Amino acid sequence: MAKLRIGVVLAAGKGTRLKSDLPKVLHPVLGKSMIQRVLESFVPLKLDQVILVIGHQAQQVEEVISHLNLPFSIHFVVQEPQLGTGHAMMQVLKALPSETQADVLITCGDMPLVLAERYQELLKLYDQKQPAVAMVTVAMSDPTGYGRVVRDQENQFQRIVEEKDATLEEKKIPWINAGIYTVNWPVFSGYFAKLTQNNAQGEFYLTDVLGLLAQDKKQVIPVVWPDPDEILGINSRSQLSEACGILSRWTAKRLMDQGVSIVNPQSMTLAPEIQVGADSVLYPGCYLEGDVVIGFHCEIGPYTTMRGEIEVSDFCRVVYSNLERRVAIGKNSYVGPFAHLRDNAILGETVRVGNFVEVKETQIGDRSNAAHLCYLGDADVGDDVNMGAGTIVANYDPIRDAKHRTVIENGVKVGCNSVLIAPVTLHQRSCIAAGSVITEDVESGDLAIARARQTQIEGWVDKTSAQPVNEPS
Ligand code: UD1
Ligand code: CA
Repeated sequence: MAKLRIGVVLAAGKGTRLKSDLPKVLHPVLGKSMIQRVLESFVPLKLDQVILVIGHQAQQVEEVISHLNLPFSIHFVVQEPQLGTGHAMMQVLKALPSETQADVLITCGDMPLVLAERYQELLKLYDQKQPAVAMVTVAMSDPTGYGRVVRDQENQFQRIVEEKDATLEEKKIPWINAGIYTVNWPVFSGYFAKLTQNNAQGEFYLTDVLGLLAQDKKQVIPVVWPDPDEILGINSRSQLSEACGILSRWTAKRLMDQGVSIVNPQSMTLAPEIQVGADSVLYPGCYLEGDVVIGFHCEIGPYTTMRGEIEVSDFCRVVYSNLERRVAIGKNSYVGPFAHLRDNAILGETVRVGNFVEVKETQIGDRSNAAHLCYLGDADVGDDVNMGAGTIVANYDPIRDAKHRTVIENGVKVGCNSVLIAPVTLHQRSCIAAGSVITEDVESGDLAIARARQTQIEGWVDKTSAQPVNEPS
Protein backbone atom coordinates (compact mmCIF):
# COMPACT_ATOMS: atom_id res chain seq x y z
CA MET A 1 0.00 0.00 0.00
CA ALA A 2 1.22 3.50 -0.79
CA LYS A 3 2.42 5.53 2.15
CA LEU A 4 -0.11 7.99 3.46
CA ARG A 5 0.63 11.66 3.80
CA ILE A 6 -1.11 13.12 6.82
CA GLY A 7 -1.22 16.61 8.28
CA VAL A 8 -1.57 17.17 12.01
CA VAL A 9 -2.42 20.56 13.49
CA LEU A 10 -2.07 21.05 17.22
CA ALA A 11 -4.76 23.38 18.42
CA ALA A 12 -5.85 22.18 21.85
CA GLY A 13 -4.02 24.77 23.91
CA LYS A 14 -5.88 27.45 25.80
CA GLY A 15 -4.07 30.54 24.63
CA THR A 16 -4.20 32.01 28.13
CA ARG A 17 -2.18 35.07 27.22
CA LEU A 18 -4.76 36.34 24.72
CA LYS A 19 -7.17 36.84 27.65
CA SER A 20 -10.12 36.11 25.40
CA ASP A 21 -13.47 34.33 25.39
CA LEU A 22 -12.76 33.28 21.81
CA PRO A 23 -10.63 30.15 21.35
CA LYS A 24 -7.12 31.18 20.35
CA VAL A 25 -7.07 29.61 16.90
CA LEU A 26 -10.35 31.31 15.97
CA HIS A 27 -8.90 34.77 16.37
CA PRO A 28 -8.88 36.52 13.01
CA VAL A 29 -5.71 37.57 11.30
CA LEU A 30 -6.78 40.06 8.63
CA GLY A 31 -10.18 38.56 7.99
CA LYS A 32 -9.50 34.85 8.39
CA SER A 33 -9.02 32.90 11.57
CA MET A 34 -5.54 31.62 12.38
CA ILE A 35 -6.70 28.06 11.90
CA GLN A 36 -8.31 28.82 8.54
CA ARG A 37 -5.04 30.32 7.34
CA VAL A 38 -3.13 27.23 8.54
CA LEU A 39 -5.57 24.81 6.89
CA GLU A 40 -5.60 26.78 3.64
CA SER A 41 -1.81 26.61 3.50
CA PHE A 42 -2.25 22.81 3.51
CA VAL A 43 -4.38 22.87 0.37
CA PRO A 44 -1.59 22.51 -2.23
CA LEU A 45 0.14 19.73 -0.24
CA LYS A 46 -2.18 16.97 -1.44
CA LEU A 47 -2.57 15.44 1.99
CA ASP A 48 -4.65 12.31 2.39
CA GLN A 49 -6.10 13.54 5.62
CA VAL A 50 -5.73 16.28 8.19
CA ILE A 51 -6.00 15.53 11.88
CA LEU A 52 -6.78 18.40 14.17
CA VAL A 53 -6.08 18.10 17.88
CA ILE A 54 -8.57 20.23 19.75
CA GLY A 55 -9.28 20.53 23.44
CA HIS A 56 -9.94 23.93 24.88
CA GLN A 57 -13.40 25.05 23.64
CA ALA A 58 -13.25 22.09 21.27
CA GLN A 59 -16.89 22.27 20.19
CA GLN A 60 -16.65 25.88 19.09
CA VAL A 61 -13.46 25.23 17.13
CA GLU A 62 -14.91 22.14 15.45
CA GLU A 63 -18.10 24.00 14.54
CA VAL A 64 -16.24 26.83 12.82
CA ILE A 65 -13.83 24.55 10.98
CA SER A 66 -16.55 22.22 9.74
CA HIS A 67 -18.02 25.18 7.84
CA LEU A 68 -14.81 25.93 5.97
CA ASN A 69 -14.71 24.83 2.38
CA LEU A 70 -11.60 22.66 2.22
CA PRO A 71 -10.61 19.97 -0.28
CA PHE A 72 -9.56 17.44 2.37
CA SER A 73 -11.37 15.71 5.18
CA ILE A 74 -10.60 16.79 8.72
CA HIS A 75 -10.54 14.33 11.53
CA PHE A 76 -10.96 15.89 14.96
CA VAL A 77 -9.19 14.39 17.94
CA VAL A 78 -9.98 15.73 21.38
CA GLN A 79 -7.21 16.15 23.93
CA GLU A 80 -8.59 16.48 27.42
CA PRO A 81 -6.88 17.54 29.66
CA GLN A 82 -4.07 19.30 27.80
CA LEU A 83 -0.80 17.96 29.14
CA GLY A 84 1.58 19.31 26.54
CA THR A 85 2.45 18.94 22.86
CA GLY A 86 3.72 15.36 23.35
CA HIS A 87 0.47 14.44 25.03
CA ALA A 88 -1.41 16.07 22.15
CA MET A 89 0.44 13.83 19.68
CA MET A 90 -0.38 10.74 21.78
CA GLN A 91 -4.08 11.51 21.13
CA VAL A 92 -3.40 11.31 17.40
CA LEU A 93 -2.81 7.57 17.86
CA LYS A 94 -6.60 7.25 18.23
CA ALA A 95 -6.96 8.32 14.60
CA LEU A 96 -3.66 7.08 13.27
CA PRO A 97 -2.37 3.87 14.91
CA SER A 98 1.39 3.63 15.36
CA GLU A 99 1.86 0.94 12.73
CA THR A 100 0.27 3.07 9.97
CA GLN A 101 2.75 3.65 7.18
CA ALA A 102 2.51 7.41 6.97
CA ASP A 103 4.58 10.53 6.74
CA VAL A 104 3.10 13.12 9.04
CA LEU A 105 3.49 16.87 8.76
CA ILE A 106 2.98 18.40 12.20
CA THR A 107 2.37 22.09 12.75
CA CYS A 108 0.72 24.40 15.25
CA GLY A 109 -2.67 26.04 14.88
CA ASP A 110 -1.27 29.33 16.11
CA MET A 111 1.23 29.78 13.27
CA PRO A 112 -0.84 31.26 10.46
CA LEU A 113 1.96 32.87 8.45
CA VAL A 114 3.74 29.79 7.11
CA LEU A 115 3.47 29.71 3.33
CA ALA A 116 2.29 26.61 1.49
CA GLU A 117 5.48 26.56 -0.57
CA ARG A 118 7.54 26.37 2.60
CA TYR A 119 5.65 23.24 3.69
CA GLN A 120 6.16 21.87 0.20
CA GLU A 121 9.91 22.45 0.42
CA LEU A 122 10.00 20.68 3.78
CA LEU A 123 8.12 17.67 2.41
CA LYS A 124 10.34 17.53 -0.63
CA LEU A 125 13.50 17.52 1.47
CA TYR A 126 12.00 14.89 3.75
CA ASP A 127 11.16 12.72 0.74
CA GLN A 128 14.72 13.01 -0.55
CA LYS A 129 16.50 12.25 2.74
CA GLN A 130 13.93 9.94 4.39
CA PRO A 131 14.97 10.79 7.97
CA ALA A 132 13.07 9.87 11.10
CA VAL A 133 12.25 13.57 11.52
CA ALA A 134 12.85 16.76 9.57
CA MET A 135 12.37 19.71 11.93
CA VAL A 136 12.22 23.38 11.02
CA THR A 137 14.67 25.75 12.64
CA VAL A 138 15.31 29.47 12.31
CA ALA A 139 18.04 31.70 13.72
CA MET A 140 16.47 34.44 15.81
CA SER A 141 18.09 37.62 17.04
CA ASP A 142 15.85 37.30 20.10
CA PRO A 143 15.02 33.62 20.62
CA THR A 144 13.36 34.18 24.01
CA GLY A 145 10.40 31.90 24.62
CA TYR A 146 11.23 29.29 22.00
CA GLY A 147 12.75 25.86 22.35
CA ARG A 148 16.45 25.87 21.32
CA VAL A 149 18.18 23.38 19.06
CA VAL A 150 21.14 21.84 20.90
CA ARG A 151 23.88 20.26 18.78
CA ASP A 152 26.85 18.07 19.80
CA GLN A 153 30.57 18.69 19.16
CA GLU A 154 30.22 17.32 15.62
CA ASN A 155 27.40 19.81 15.06
CA GLN A 156 24.88 16.99 14.87
CA PHE A 157 21.38 17.48 16.22
CA GLN A 158 21.23 16.38 19.84
CA ARG A 159 17.97 17.59 21.39
CA ILE A 160 15.60 20.51 21.87
CA VAL A 161 15.54 22.32 25.17
CA GLU A 162 12.60 24.47 26.14
CA GLU A 163 13.26 28.02 27.34
CA LYS A 164 12.05 27.20 30.85
CA ASP A 165 14.40 24.20 31.13
CA ALA A 166 17.41 25.79 29.42
CA THR A 167 20.70 26.67 31.09
CA LEU A 168 22.12 30.17 30.62
CA GLU A 169 24.48 28.75 27.98
CA GLU A 170 21.62 27.07 26.10
CA LYS A 171 19.55 30.26 26.18
CA LYS A 172 22.29 31.90 24.09
CA ILE A 173 21.61 29.52 21.18
CA PRO A 174 19.93 31.52 18.39
CA TRP A 175 18.57 28.42 16.59
CA ILE A 176 15.01 27.87 17.67
CA ASN A 177 12.52 25.09 17.13
CA ALA A 178 9.73 26.40 14.94
CA GLY A 179 7.32 23.67 16.03
CA ILE A 180 6.98 22.28 12.51
CA TYR A 181 8.05 18.73 11.73
CA THR A 182 7.69 16.00 9.16
CA VAL A 183 8.00 12.59 10.76
CA ASN A 184 8.07 8.93 9.88
CA TRP A 185 5.00 7.96 11.85
CA PRO A 186 5.78 4.37 12.99
CA VAL A 187 9.29 5.39 14.07
CA PHE A 188 8.24 8.67 15.70
CA SER A 189 5.13 7.48 17.48
CA GLY A 190 7.03 4.46 18.79
CA TYR A 191 8.72 6.83 21.25
CA PHE A 192 5.61 8.35 22.80
CA ALA A 193 5.60 5.75 25.55
CA LYS A 194 9.04 6.99 26.66
CA LEU A 195 7.95 10.59 27.25
CA THR A 196 7.84 11.85 30.82
CA GLN A 197 6.67 14.98 32.58
CA ASN A 198 10.04 15.56 34.25
CA ASN A 199 10.51 19.15 33.19
CA ALA A 200 9.89 22.70 34.33
CA GLN A 201 6.32 22.75 32.99
CA GLY A 202 5.34 19.23 34.07
CA GLU A 203 4.21 18.53 30.50
CA PHE A 204 4.79 15.81 27.94
CA TYR A 205 7.01 17.55 25.41
CA LEU A 206 6.73 16.55 21.77
CA THR A 207 10.23 17.95 21.42
CA ASP A 208 11.64 15.24 23.72
CA VAL A 209 10.85 12.64 21.05
CA LEU A 210 13.50 14.26 18.84
CA GLY A 211 16.15 13.99 21.56
CA LEU A 212 15.28 10.35 22.18
CA LEU A 213 15.51 9.60 18.46
CA ALA A 214 18.93 11.27 18.23
CA GLN A 215 20.14 9.22 21.24
CA ASP A 216 19.20 6.09 19.30
CA LYS A 217 21.10 7.37 16.26
CA LYS A 218 17.95 7.89 14.28
CA GLN A 219 18.28 10.70 11.82
CA VAL A 220 16.82 14.07 12.89
CA ILE A 221 17.57 16.79 10.38
CA PRO A 222 17.14 20.45 11.16
CA VAL A 223 15.88 22.32 8.11
CA VAL A 224 16.73 26.00 8.11
CA TRP A 225 14.01 28.40 7.03
CA PRO A 226 15.07 31.84 5.91
CA ASP A 227 12.42 34.12 7.34
CA PRO A 228 11.71 34.25 11.09
CA ASP A 229 8.52 36.24 10.36
CA GLU A 230 6.90 33.21 8.77
CA ILE A 231 7.05 31.06 11.87
CA LEU A 232 5.67 33.66 14.23
CA GLY A 233 3.55 31.83 16.80
CA ILE A 234 0.68 33.85 18.18
CA ASN A 235 0.41 33.67 21.94
CA SER A 236 -0.49 37.26 22.82
CA ARG A 237 -2.39 40.24 21.45
CA SER A 238 0.90 41.89 20.52
CA GLN A 239 1.91 38.87 18.47
CA LEU A 240 -1.54 38.91 16.88
CA SER A 241 -1.02 42.49 15.75
CA GLU A 242 2.53 41.63 14.68
CA ALA A 243 1.13 38.85 12.47
CA CYS A 244 -1.35 41.28 10.86
CA GLY A 245 1.50 43.72 10.26
CA ILE A 246 3.67 41.08 8.61
CA LEU A 247 0.87 39.90 6.30
CA SER A 248 0.09 43.48 5.37
CA ARG A 249 3.75 44.25 4.63
CA TRP A 250 4.05 41.16 2.43
CA THR A 251 0.89 42.15 0.57
CA ALA A 252 2.09 45.71 0.01
CA LYS A 253 5.39 44.40 -1.33
CA ARG A 254 3.63 41.98 -3.69
CA LEU A 255 1.28 44.67 -4.99
CA MET A 256 4.09 47.16 -5.56
CA ASP A 257 6.02 44.45 -7.43
CA GLN A 258 2.90 44.04 -9.58
CA GLY A 259 2.83 47.72 -10.53
CA VAL A 260 0.61 49.23 -7.87
CA SER A 261 1.66 52.48 -6.21
CA ILE A 262 1.24 52.60 -2.46
CA VAL A 263 1.92 56.07 -1.14
CA ASN A 264 2.61 55.02 2.44
CA PRO A 265 2.65 51.23 2.95
CA GLN A 266 3.10 51.56 6.72
CA SER A 267 -0.27 53.29 6.98
CA MET A 268 -2.13 50.47 5.19
CA THR A 269 -3.69 47.22 6.33
CA LEU A 270 -3.81 44.88 3.36
CA ALA A 271 -4.93 41.26 3.64
CA PRO A 272 -3.08 38.75 1.45
CA GLU A 273 -6.18 37.90 -0.57
CA ILE A 274 -6.56 41.33 -2.16
CA GLN A 275 -5.84 41.89 -5.85
CA VAL A 276 -5.08 45.25 -7.41
CA GLY A 277 -4.38 46.02 -11.07
CA ALA A 278 -1.26 47.82 -12.24
CA ASP A 279 -1.13 51.62 -12.29
CA SER A 280 -3.62 51.84 -9.48
CA VAL A 281 -2.68 54.06 -6.57
CA LEU A 282 -3.49 53.26 -2.96
CA TYR A 283 -3.49 56.40 -0.82
CA PRO A 284 -2.75 56.25 2.92
CA GLY A 285 -4.95 54.81 5.62
CA CYS A 286 -6.80 52.04 3.79
CA TYR A 287 -8.05 48.79 5.32
CA LEU A 288 -8.66 46.16 2.64
CA GLU A 289 -9.58 42.61 3.58
CA GLY A 290 -11.47 39.73 1.99
CA ASP A 291 -12.04 38.97 -1.67
CA VAL A 292 -11.21 42.47 -2.76
CA VAL A 293 -10.47 42.85 -6.47
CA ILE A 294 -9.51 46.31 -7.71
CA GLY A 295 -8.88 47.00 -11.39
CA PHE A 296 -6.24 48.94 -13.28
CA HIS A 297 -5.72 52.71 -13.01
CA CYS A 298 -7.85 53.08 -9.89
CA GLU A 299 -7.34 55.54 -7.07
CA ILE A 300 -8.29 54.13 -3.70
CA GLY A 301 -8.24 56.15 -0.49
CA PRO A 302 -7.12 57.94 1.43
CA TYR A 303 -8.93 56.32 4.34
CA THR A 304 -11.09 53.72 2.66
CA THR A 305 -12.30 50.42 4.10
CA MET A 306 -13.22 47.42 1.99
CA ARG A 307 -14.27 44.21 3.71
CA GLY A 308 -15.93 41.26 2.03
CA GLU A 309 -16.54 40.52 -1.61
CA ILE A 310 -15.64 43.80 -3.25
CA GLU A 311 -15.05 44.41 -6.95
CA VAL A 312 -13.87 47.76 -8.22
CA SER A 313 -13.44 47.98 -12.00
CA ASP A 314 -10.79 49.91 -13.91
CA PHE A 315 -10.42 53.68 -13.73
CA CYS A 316 -12.46 54.11 -10.55
CA ARG A 317 -11.88 56.44 -7.62
CA VAL A 318 -13.00 55.50 -4.13
CA VAL A 319 -12.20 58.16 -1.56
CA TYR A 320 -12.80 58.16 2.23
CA SER A 321 -15.46 55.47 1.96
CA ASN A 322 -16.67 52.25 3.54
CA LEU A 323 -17.49 49.24 1.35
CA GLU A 324 -18.78 46.13 3.08
CA ARG A 325 -19.85 42.58 2.37
CA ARG A 326 -20.80 42.59 -1.33
CA VAL A 327 -20.14 45.60 -3.52
CA ALA A 328 -19.38 45.91 -7.24
CA ILE A 329 -18.45 49.14 -8.97
CA GLY A 330 -18.39 49.47 -12.76
CA LYS A 331 -15.51 51.14 -14.48
CA ASN A 332 -14.88 54.84 -14.48
CA SER A 333 -17.05 55.44 -11.42
CA TYR A 334 -16.37 57.82 -8.59
CA VAL A 335 -17.37 56.97 -5.04
CA GLY A 336 -17.02 59.26 -2.04
CA PRO A 337 -15.87 61.04 -0.13
CA PHE A 338 -17.76 59.50 2.78
CA ALA A 339 -19.95 57.01 0.91
CA HIS A 340 -21.20 53.79 2.49
CA LEU A 341 -21.75 50.92 0.06
CA ARG A 342 -22.80 47.58 1.47
CA ASP A 343 -24.73 44.33 0.99
CA ASN A 344 -25.21 44.02 -2.77
CA ALA A 345 -24.58 47.57 -3.80
CA ILE A 346 -24.03 47.07 -7.53
CA LEU A 347 -22.96 50.12 -9.49
CA GLY A 348 -22.75 50.34 -13.29
CA GLU A 349 -20.19 52.26 -15.30
CA THR A 350 -19.44 55.95 -14.89
CA VAL A 351 -21.61 56.15 -11.80
CA ARG A 352 -21.23 58.89 -9.26
CA VAL A 353 -21.99 58.09 -5.62
CA GLY A 354 -20.95 61.05 -3.59
CA ASN A 355 -20.63 62.33 -0.08
CA PHE A 356 -22.85 60.92 2.63
CA VAL A 357 -24.62 58.52 0.31
CA GLU A 358 -25.54 55.05 1.54
CA VAL A 359 -26.35 52.28 -0.94
CA LYS A 360 -27.49 48.76 -0.06
CA GLU A 361 -29.37 45.99 -1.92
CA THR A 362 -29.47 48.39 -4.83
CA GLN A 363 -28.36 48.39 -8.43
CA ILE A 364 -27.49 51.64 -10.10
CA GLY A 365 -27.30 51.82 -13.90
CA ASP A 366 -24.66 53.43 -16.08
CA ARG A 367 -24.07 57.17 -15.91
CA SER A 368 -26.39 57.65 -12.95
CA ASN A 369 -25.66 60.03 -10.10
CA ALA A 370 -26.43 60.15 -6.43
CA ALA A 371 -23.91 62.78 -5.63
CA HIS A 372 -24.94 64.07 -2.22
CA LEU A 373 -26.70 62.94 0.96
CA CYS A 374 -28.87 60.07 -0.34
CA TYR A 375 -30.13 56.78 1.01
CA LEU A 376 -30.75 54.12 -1.59
CA GLY A 377 -31.90 50.84 -0.07
CA ASP A 378 -33.67 48.01 -1.92
CA ALA A 379 -33.86 50.04 -5.13
CA ASP A 380 -33.39 49.39 -8.83
CA VAL A 381 -32.01 52.51 -10.38
CA GLY A 382 -31.72 52.64 -14.18
CA ASP A 383 -29.27 54.36 -16.49
CA ASP A 384 -28.86 58.15 -16.72
CA VAL A 385 -30.77 58.76 -13.50
CA ASN A 386 -30.11 61.79 -11.36
CA MET A 387 -30.92 61.57 -7.69
CA GLY A 388 -31.05 65.06 -6.20
CA ALA A 389 -29.25 65.89 -2.98
CA GLY A 390 -31.00 64.55 0.08
CA THR A 391 -33.19 62.00 -1.69
CA ILE A 392 -34.29 59.18 0.57
CA VAL A 393 -35.83 55.87 -0.31
CA ALA A 394 -38.24 54.87 2.44
CA ASN A 395 -37.81 51.13 2.01
CA TYR A 396 -38.71 49.95 5.48
CA ASP A 397 -42.21 49.37 6.76
CA PRO A 398 -41.73 49.21 10.52
CA ILE A 399 -45.32 48.10 11.20
CA ARG A 400 -44.97 44.91 9.16
CA ASP A 401 -41.21 44.78 9.61
CA ALA A 402 -40.88 44.47 5.83
CA LYS A 403 -38.62 45.96 3.17
CA HIS A 404 -40.07 47.13 -0.14
CA ARG A 405 -38.39 47.94 -3.42
CA THR A 406 -38.25 51.20 -5.29
CA VAL A 407 -37.88 51.14 -9.06
CA ILE A 408 -36.40 54.18 -10.75
CA GLU A 409 -36.29 53.66 -14.50
CA ASN A 410 -33.89 55.06 -17.08
CA GLY A 411 -33.57 58.81 -17.36
CA VAL A 412 -35.55 59.70 -14.23
CA LYS A 413 -34.67 62.96 -12.46
CA VAL A 414 -35.46 63.16 -8.77
CA GLY A 415 -35.46 66.64 -7.23
CA CYS A 416 -33.62 67.40 -4.02
CA ASN A 417 -34.89 66.28 -0.66
CA SER A 418 -37.55 63.92 -2.01
CA VAL A 419 -38.80 60.85 -0.19
CA LEU A 420 -39.79 57.83 -2.27
CA ILE A 421 -42.11 55.64 -0.21
CA ALA A 422 -41.63 52.05 -1.35
CA PRO A 423 -43.02 50.11 -3.06
CA VAL A 424 -43.14 52.68 -5.83
CA THR A 425 -42.05 52.92 -9.46
CA LEU A 426 -40.86 56.03 -11.27
CA HIS A 427 -41.24 55.19 -14.95
CA GLN A 428 -38.81 56.25 -17.67
CA ARG A 429 -37.84 59.91 -17.91
CA SER A 430 -40.28 61.00 -15.24
CA CYS A 431 -39.39 63.93 -13.00
CA ILE A 432 -39.96 64.46 -9.30
CA ALA A 433 -40.17 68.01 -8.01
CA ALA A 434 -37.85 68.85 -5.17
CA GLY A 435 -39.20 68.23 -1.69
CA SER A 436 -41.84 65.73 -2.83
CA VAL A 437 -43.05 62.75 -0.85
CA ILE A 438 -43.89 60.19 -3.53
CA THR A 439 -46.35 57.47 -2.58
CA GLU A 440 -47.73 56.52 -6.02
CA ASP A 441 -46.14 55.38 -9.27
CA VAL A 442 -45.20 58.15 -11.69
CA GLU A 443 -45.85 57.58 -15.40
CA SER A 444 -43.24 57.98 -18.12
CA GLY A 445 -42.39 61.55 -18.94
CA ASP A 446 -44.63 63.02 -16.19
CA LEU A 447 -43.70 65.48 -13.48
CA ALA A 448 -44.86 64.62 -9.97
CA ILE A 449 -45.11 67.32 -7.35
CA ALA A 450 -46.15 66.17 -3.91
CA ARG A 451 -45.63 68.97 -1.47
CA ALA A 452 -47.64 71.82 0.01
CA ARG A 453 -47.96 74.79 -2.30
CA GLN A 454 -46.05 77.84 -1.14
CA THR A 455 -48.18 80.54 0.52
CA GLN A 456 -46.90 84.06 0.77
CA ILE A 457 -48.23 86.59 3.31
CA GLU A 458 -47.65 90.10 2.19
CA GLY A 459 -45.91 92.44 4.64
CA TRP A 460 -45.95 89.81 7.39
CA VAL A 461 -42.60 90.81 8.84
CA ASP A 462 -43.43 94.44 9.41
CA LYS A 463 -46.88 93.61 10.77
CA THR A 464 -45.68 91.14 13.41
CA SER A 465 -42.61 92.97 14.62
CA ALA A 466 -43.51 96.47 15.73
CA GLN A 467 -40.08 96.71 17.25
CA PRO A 468 -37.31 95.41 14.99
CA VAL A 469 -35.47 92.67 16.84
CA ASN A 470 -31.72 92.62 17.43
CA GLU A 471 -31.46 96.37 17.40
CA PRO A 472 -29.74 98.02 20.34
CA SER A 473 -32.22 99.97 22.50
C1 UD1 B 1 6.39 24.81 21.37
C2 UD1 B 1 7.65 23.94 21.39
C3 UD1 B 1 8.86 24.85 21.31
C4 UD1 B 1 8.79 25.69 20.07
C5 UD1 B 1 7.47 26.46 19.99
C6 UD1 B 1 7.32 27.09 18.64
C7 UD1 B 1 7.13 22.02 22.77
C8 UD1 B 1 7.29 21.37 24.08
N1 UD1 B 1 7.68 23.18 22.62
O1 UD1 B 1 6.41 25.61 22.54
O2 UD1 B 1 10.04 24.07 21.28
O3 UD1 B 1 9.88 26.60 20.03
O4 UD1 B 1 6.35 25.57 20.17
O5 UD1 B 1 6.19 27.92 18.59
O6 UD1 B 1 6.51 21.44 21.88
N2 UD1 B 1 -0.97 22.33 22.23
C9 UD1 B 1 -1.89 21.31 22.30
N3 UD1 B 1 -2.00 20.61 23.47
C10 UD1 B 1 -1.25 20.88 24.57
C11 UD1 B 1 -0.31 21.94 24.49
C12 UD1 B 1 -0.20 22.63 23.29
O7 UD1 B 1 -2.59 21.02 21.34
O8 UD1 B 1 -1.41 20.20 25.58
C13 UD1 B 1 -0.87 23.07 20.97
C14 UD1 B 1 -1.17 24.53 21.16
O9 UD1 B 1 -2.54 24.80 20.91
C15 UD1 B 1 -0.29 25.19 20.10
C16 UD1 B 1 0.87 24.22 19.95
O10 UD1 B 1 0.45 22.99 20.52
O11 UD1 B 1 -0.94 25.30 18.86
C17 UD1 B 1 2.12 24.72 20.65
O12 UD1 B 1 1.83 24.86 22.02
P1 UD1 B 1 2.42 26.05 22.87
O13 UD1 B 1 1.96 25.91 24.27
O14 UD1 B 1 2.19 27.31 22.19
O15 UD1 B 1 3.96 25.64 22.83
P2 UD1 B 1 5.20 26.57 23.06
O16 UD1 B 1 5.40 26.76 24.50
O17 UD1 B 1 5.07 27.75 22.21
CA1 CA C 1 3.30 28.74 20.81
